[in-house]
Formats: sequence, structure tokens, C-alpha cells
Amino acid sequence: MYTGLLHLHNLLRYVVLILLILAIVQSFAGWFLKKSYDKKHNKVSLFLLITSHLQLIIGLILYFISPVVIAARDNFGEAMKNVELRFWAVEHISSMILAIALITIGRIMAKKGKADLIKFRRQAIYFFLALILIFNAIPWPWSAVARAWF
Ligand code: HEM
Repeated sequence: MYTGLLHLHNLLRYVVLILLILAIVQSFAGWFLKKSYDKKHNKVSLFLLITSHLQLIIGLILYFISPVVIAARDNFGEAMKNVELRFWAVEHISSMILAIALITIGRIMAKKGKADLIKFRRQAIYFFLALILIFNAIPWPWSAVARAWF
């Protein structure tokens, strides 16, 4: 189960990233080109919300069954001195939860906005901040804590 979920979590990152980048491009274009917020904009942000929440659920399960997180929790004080253990036990989870909260709030705030320009502006800002957090907390092959592309 662990390996299957880890692979799914790994692959789902690309779906989240593609939807997030698409939503950001749409939001900035809508904001600066004064477009109207229509069904396709709502659809992208809805799919982004669903996939990021799915990623959150899989991540939470992994957090309890992952050997590296269990090792970190066994001796939390010592784990904080280790770059890899600290990354998995604290940094990855906290950045990702914050980013998913920003996506959720951004969508709610956009829906509440009365004018289309306000909807696009709110989405653009919240989603862009979420992208920075997610991009930083992914264990890319070049990161200090590195993992494979797939
Ligand atoms: C958009 C959000 C997220 C993205 C893009 C993401 C991305 C990733 C990636 C690429 C990996 C490495 C997978 C591999 O080695 O094959 C990973 C592992 C992991 N993630 Fe996430 N993650 C996200 C959210 C979360 C959240 C919210 C949590 C916790 C609540 C979490 C917990 C974990 C854990 C525990 C591991 C596995 C560590 C291990 O056993 O090696 N992730 N994540």
C-alpha cells in the first residue's frame, strides 16, 4: 500500500502543478485583459481544488505509514538535526498544507468577489503564492532532499 500511494502521490504532483499553472495564467490574463469569468475558469479552479485535496489526503496517509517519517517521529529532537528527516517530518507537510489552504481560500475569495476583475485578481494572488510554496517543497532531483521525476 505504501509504495502504491507514494507512486500516486508522486504522479499527482504533475496534475496539481499543471492545473495550478493553468489557473494562474488564466487569472492573470483575465485580470489584465479584463476578461469575463466564465465556466471554463470555474472548472479549472474546481479541478485544482479537488486534485490538491486528494493530494492532501494521500499525503496525510503517507505521513503515518512512511518509514522515513516514522523514523523521524521516533526521535524527533535528533531528527531536527538531520536535513532529510526534518524535510519529511516538518518542512514538506507544513508548506504543502499552507499551499493547499491558500488554494482553498483563493477559490472561496474568488467566488465571493462581485466583479470578474476581483475574482481573477484574488485567484491570481492566492494561487501564485501557493505555487511558490509547492514548488519549493517538492523534492526535485536537484533539491537538497532529492527524489526521482517519476
Ligand atoms: C500539492 C501538494 C503536494 C505535492 C506536490 C507533493 C509532492 C510529493 C512528492 C513529489 C513526493 C516524493 C514521492 C516519491 O518519492 O516518489 C512526496 C512524498 C511525500 N509527501 Fe507529499 N506532496 C504534497 C502534499 C503533501 C502533504 C499535504 C503531505 C502531508 C500531509 C505530504 C506528505 C508526504 C509524505 C509523507 C511523503 C513520503 C515520504 C517518504 O516516505 O519517502 N505531501 N510528496
